[in-house]
Amino acid sequence: MKKKIVAGNWKMNLSLLEALALVSEINFMVNDEVMHDVTVIIAPPFPYLQSIRQLTKDNPRIHTAAQNCYSETKGAFTGEVSAEMLKSLGTEYVIIGHSERRNYFKEDNHLLAKKVKIVLNVELIPIYCCGETLQERNANKHFEIIKIQLEEGLFYLSEKEFSNIVIAYEPVWAIGTGVTASPQQAQEMHQYIRSLIKGKYGNEIADNLSILYGGSCNSKNAKELFDNPDVDGGLIGGASLKSRDFTDIIKAI
Ligand code: PGA
Repeated sequence: MKKKIVAGNWKMNLSLLEALALVSEINFMVNDEVMHDVTVIIAPPFPYLQSIRQLTKDNPRIHTAAQNCYSETKGAFTGEVSAEMLKSLGTEYVIIGHSERRNYFKEDNHLLAKKVKIVLNVELIPIYCCGETLQERNANKHFEIIKIQLEEGLFYLSEKEFSNIVIAYEPVWAIGTGVTASPQQAQEMHQYIRSLIKGKYGNEIADNLSILYGGSCNSKNAKELFDNPDVDGGLIGGASLKSRDFTDIIKAI
């Protein structure tokens, strides 16, 4: 069965003290207020991963994710962080291919394919992001772009490997802009993504895959997005930095 997931991507925000305060509030609220079965993931900056894992490890609903990792296993790569290191901290998920990584750090599908493999090799779960720019959507190329991002980034995986990934559809024009994809636009693209996966890996794997929506998702619009049959949760940026907003989004699932 596909998991319902709400993941908070904190990006490069918060001091350590602010991060600890926020996660303590979320930890408390997720215990007390969220009655249904949802997987909550928190993706803080690297330096906070261990403390956040420590604070939440007794809460079975909360898991941690890294926002990135390097594409090699180890060695002389000053400043980089390996998947194995993340695993040793108790991290369970790694966001791969966020549009900010694709855009500012020029990460292309081929590099991301390597990262996905590295993450799977140490038995962590990649959350693979895909999404088109506004220019691409206006040129009616959005389906084509997503197809290429999936084919080049993921379609070399075996069936077994593919059963252990999560996909996030994040239209670049909606990220951090306050403009959200309409529920129809989100459903249309999620359904398309699932149909591509069906074609490549079959019905069972496609039906069990969680596909998250990301891009200005907040406590007001989450419900109508999550109500779509192919939207299995959200990857939340700005609204994950406030405990009340974030837990309201979790409750909307
Ligand atoms: P946003 O970011 O919710 O602030 O638009 C989403 C994301 O980048 O994952």
